[in-house]
Amino acid sequence: MKEHIKGYAYGEAGLEHSPVTKQDLELLKKTLLWSDDDNRFLKMAGDVLQDQTDAVLDLWYNYVGSNEHLVYYFGENGKPNEHYLSAVRVRFKQWILDLCHRPYDQAWLDYQHEIAKRHHSTKKNQTDQVQAVPIVHFRYIVAFIYPITVTIKDFLKKKGHSQEDVEGMYNAWFKAVTLTALLWCHPFVHQGEF
Ligand code: HEM
Repeated sequence: MKEHIKGYAYGEAGLEHSPVTKQDLELLKKTLLWSDDDNRFLKMAGDVLQDQTDAVLDLWYNYVGSNEHLVYYFGENGKPNEHYLSAVRVRFKQWILDLCHRPYDQAWLDYQHEIAKRHHSTKKNQTDQVQAVPIVHFRYIVAFIYPITVTIKDFLKKKGHSQEDVEGMYNAWFKAVTLTALLWCHPFVHQGEF
């Protein structure tokens, strides 16, 4: 049985419906040049990353932790909240697998909307009942696409796949990270302008 992850609400009935429709999602994927190969490579990436999520998170948390302006978002009164950091880390690990293995259906869209709100003042801090800073600034959500993408390549190479497969997985990952990050921008954009 799957271990329960605190605050992880994927597929729960109480989640708000995403304001982004399935039709919007299809057009976004089309814009990202999404193909059937991407579906195949993303699944392959999920299989490759499955037992490496701790190592990936070590690297990402090291990056955040060594940048004062980023770890700031996990803090209160200028000090990082360790309980908050570790609670988010467990859900972040699960996100890697969800990004690669879950179908991008209504439940997936609804959880993207939930994560969007968790980065925004609408819902930040509530899940872990902390008093950290009230919002992750929009500019960093977009800027994060690059480090979250570029750092994954070494992990994709670790299981002996051909260069072609690694490139395929890497591109699919890049598209998937871009897609989710842009869905998380929704609460930051004026109504009707997303
Ligand atoms: C939460 C990924 C940008 C800080 C999360 C979670 C994930 C995630 C998977 C947990 C979601 C859940 O609750 O299930 C990402 C990705 C980003 C991004 C992929 C951009 C591509 C950022 C940036 C910061 C940040 C730039 C600032 C340093 C946080 C914080 C939380 C969080 C503070 C906890 C929010 C809460 O109170 O619930 N992020 N994140 N994230 N992330 Fe991000």
